[in-house]
Amino acid sequence: MIVNSPRIPVLYSAEEISERIEELSHEIAASMPQELVIVSLLRGSFMFTSDLVRAMYYIGLQPQIDFMTLASYKGTKSTGEVAIQRDISDDVAGKHVLIVDDILETGRTLSHALRAMQERGAASVKLCVLLEKPGKLDVEIKADYVGFRIPDKFVVGYGLDYDNLYRELPYIGYLDVH
Ligand code: IMP
Ligand code: MG
Repeated sequence: MIVNSPRIPVLYSAEEISERIEELSHEIAASMPQELVIVSLLRGSFMFTSDLVRAMYYIGLQPQIDFMTLASYKGTKSTGEVAIQRDISDDVAGKHVLIVDDILETGRTLSHALRAMQERGAASVKLCVLLEKPGKLDVEIKADYVGFRIPDKFVVGYGLDYDNLYRELPYIGYLDVH
């Protein structure tokens, strides 16, 4: 993949993201139990999670927050296997869990996390993604809360990377590739 320009064009601005996250926090508050545990999937969702939980604060939610790193082996073997690289710290048995991720594409990452939470006896598990690329699912999975449904572009910024770069962008941009 070749990056054409050092300037990354904007798909969603910081303001658009912030407005959508405020709406998402209301959607979550209206349909989830007060006592919930956020399981944020690293590294891609660190920025989204931090803004989402602050939006939750302003509407009176008090989530517990935990983190999990999943490694996927896309590209190496066609199976696209996913493994837990760093696990959450707390026990989720009996808890209402909200898994937060940056983007839902094939669904393999989220379905692995979902299964892990269910196997550990979570009382309920819901899925929240900032972005969804429609039409790419390899597994049957549906996010309960979606920030934006995006065109089929490779997006970076706001936590999302290309080769661990561009995570720091305050907006979501896309890479022009040949
Ligand atoms: P899935 O397991 O195929 O649903 O992929 C989800 C993961 O793939 C995300 O957590 C991202 O790390 C990565 N990913 C998928 N599409 C993009 C993209 O357009 N830009 C950056 N990362 C992406
Ligand atoms: Mg990721």
